[in-house]
Amino acid sequence: MRTPYIAGNWKMNLAPSEARAYASSLAEAVKAAKPDCRVMIAPSFVSLPGVIEAVKGSGITVAAQNMADHLAGAYTGEVSPEMLKDIGVETVILGHSERRQYYGETDEIINGKVLLALSLKMEVVLCVGETLEEREGGELETVLERQLRVGLKDVQPDEMKAITIAYEPVWAIGTGRTATPEDADAAHRFIRETVAAMYSEDIANNLIIQYGGSVKPSNVRALMEKENIDGALVGGASLKLDDFLPIITFSK
Ligand code: PGA
Repeated sequence: MRTPYIAGNWKMNLAPSEARAYASSLAEAVKAAKPDCRVMIAPSFVSLPGVIEAVKGSGITVAAQNMADHLAGAYTGEVSPEMLKDIGVETVILGHSERRQYYGETDEIINGKVLLALSLKMEVVLCVGETLEEREGGELETVLERQLRVGLKDVQPDEMKAITIAYEPVWAIGTGRTATPEDADAAHRFIRETVAAMYSEDIANNLIIQYGGSVKPSNVRALMEKENIDGALVGGASLKLDDFLPIITFSK
């Protein structure tokens, strides 16, 4: 049984005071709604302490959107996973397409971060997904397989329970253009098959695979009905309670 997992990636939005206020109302709403899924939010680094405080007792997981690929040292501008753990962050999103596209993160860099996070017993949401050009060029499966094989290189079978995969077709992120539930499910099935080949059927069957890319209240249910879609990584629609709550409570 895979428990649905809905996550909000706030990206570079909401100042710490706004993030904290929103997190408090979200925590209240989640406590009242008792959703059938795990809920995660990923605010910016500076908002993490306030948000952690605001959601205490609500069961909401607070994650970072990224982390450094080193534990400490002369890496100006970076945030170490040990610093995150110190303030109570146990989950991190890695390999988001915006990190890949705008900040030059390669599969190898992302793999280093995955291994580092796992060595600290953190949970990882590893993002994969193709660009429009890659999809139209028939490279969907090649790209996903490379991102998985390199991104998860040297991850041990017993560490896979700390891994969630987020399938986010780059052309669907922030564009209002969602993959059809059928297309998303096909990509998710391919991801599950690849993980089965790399590890085992059992590990693949237990793997949570989130879909991300213009998820909103109006399309979440059709996506979540698909066999291989176990959750959502939500950007724009996670920034307001009126949008995010109906997504979290999609099954009600
Ligand atoms: P979006 O972003 O929901 O705004 O498309 C999703 C993501 O990038 O995680």
